[in-house]
Amino acid sequence: MNAVLDTMARRRSVRAFLSEQLKEEDLQAILEAGRNAPSGGGNRTTHLFVLQNEDVLRRIQAVVERAFAGMELREDLYKSLQNSIRLSKQGGYEFFFRAPTLIIAANRKSYGNAMADTACVLENMMIAATALNVGSCWINQLHWLDENEDVRAVLHGLGVGEAETVCGGLALGYPKEENAFRVLEKGGNEVTYVR
Ligand SMILES: Cc1cc2nc3c(=O)[nH]c(=O)nc-3n(C[C@H](O)[C@H](O)[C@H](O)COP(=O)(O)O)c2cc1C
Repeated sequence: MNAVLDTMARRRSVRAFLSEQLKEEDLQAILEAGRNAPSGGGNRTTHLFVLQNEDVLRRIQAVVERAFAGMELREDLYKSLQNSIRLSKQGGYEFFFRAPTLIIAANRKSYGNAMADTACVLENMMIAATALNVGSCWINQLHWLDENEDVRAVLHGLGVGEAETVCGGLALGYPKEENAFRVLEKGGNEVTYVR
């Protein structure tokens, strides 16, 4: 099988990481894959923030947990959001699974393709990570909390601009599990042939 296709098939979300930091060459290769992603009209306005400082990661973890803990837990909310609120109220919510590297992907608030472009960047990075045996998982909590004042204050401190919105994030690290990368036995998105 083609090596790229094989890597795409083996990519799985990884949620348990070794504490060891990424090798710099692995990080740079993953970032390069993200920077090469397609973008609407060649805009390339996705702005990546690479967070590896332990104090900063702790600060982000704490502000996110406080924000979710302060929310009302309602049955009509998206299941994953309910989960974030429930775990935060209990305390010790680890929304990026203690990954040694957290990437935040922001884009222009006013740009219609912001989410689509960012998704291309993050997917390229997840495939590159898999190719290098680096675990990855899309992290959406900072997108959900993009309007939260306290979260925004921390993000501004890191350099996220007033005109930028957080579209998504990525947890990155070497996986704890030996079989972290595996091909799905069945399933996948629907295909309809018209031919
Ligand atoms: C837009 C998007 C948001 C996601 N948000 C989260 C998240 O916040 N936390 C998480 O653990 N996984 C998140 N995921 C990962 C999905 O749960 C995962 O891709 C899905 O369960 C399929 O599993 P697989 O990636 O191993 O194939 C997200 C994936 C996408 C595409």
